[in-house]
Amino acid sequence: MDKVKAFLNSVKDLPAFPKSAIEFMKLSKDPKTSLNDIGKFISKDTTLSTKILKLANSPFYNRGREIKSINQAVVLLGLDIIKGIVLSLSIIRMFPLRVGGREFDRTLFWDHSVASAFIARKLSKEFSLWDPEEAYTAALIHDIGKLLYNQFFPDDYTRVVKRALSENKRYIEIEKEEFGYTHAEFGFKIAEKWNLPIELKEAIRYHHKLEEEAKNKLLVAIVGFSNIFSKQIGYNFPWEFEPLVLSENVFWQEMVKHNPKLKNIDEAFFTFEMREMKEKIEALIKESLEG
Ligand SMILES: [Fe+2]
Ligand SMILES: [Fe+2]
Repeated sequence: MDKVKAFLNSVKDLPAFPKSAIEFMKLSKDPKTSLNDIGKFISKDTTLSTKILKLANSPFYNRGREIKSINQAVVLLGLDIIKGIVLSLSIIRMFPLRVGGREFDRTLFWDHSVASAFIARKLSKEFSLWDPEEAYTAALIHDIGKLLYNQFFPDDYTRVVKRALSENKRYIEIEKEEFGYTHAEFGFKIAEKWNLPIELKEAIRYHHKLEEEAKNKLLVAIVGFSNIFSKQIGYNFPWEFEPLVLSENVFWQEMVKHNPKLKNIDEAFFTFEMREMKEKIEALIKESLEG
């Protein structure tokens, strides 16, 4: 427990939150940003450009003609997809694969995060709940505390996972016992050090427990719901599956308060959407994690 406190007090080893991701978030939030501006931003970064062209030409994103330039990729893939790709690539490649606890599969970790991000954006956009890109980003990084636990405390983390698999106790309660903080609390503390915007900090902090004090309750609800929903479709670690009952889910209720139309849809709505997204998500993670 004291180890984690000491880590938080020094954090000399803490990886920086990618500057390019922060810059891109600002750019994509600005209504004056044109497709051309996005293209220019991507072209500044060679690795990013190469990865985007590779994805844009992969069968999961492209069934038509060959895409030869970033501008073409932006136009043909559309702003939503391109924004998601740039953000995911900028963040995921800053936390590359490293040998941590054996139980922690980073591909699965990012599959879960990106799946949650796709769902969060879809909900935000379709039901006019929140800025879709901000919801995407918040969901993408909601579990960052878990990744950092695994990276900096691999042995302790392995113990947490083993306990979660063998004991009849919730995974986050075991985290709290072993580390003093859940991954949500730990992630929040790191996000404070990174000076992330309040919306993102709150989504990280409250995604397992919606608290009254949250100023961005609706965003927290979108992220909290997307987290659980992505687990329903298989993007989850075996030790932390949570069943979803829409009518009893507080995150769901919070979203319905803001848009009652949500009541008319059911799980099949999302499941269908996610089937379409599955290959795109998996190709994106593969490309992000490759050297
Ligand atoms: Fe979580
Ligand atoms: Fe999660």
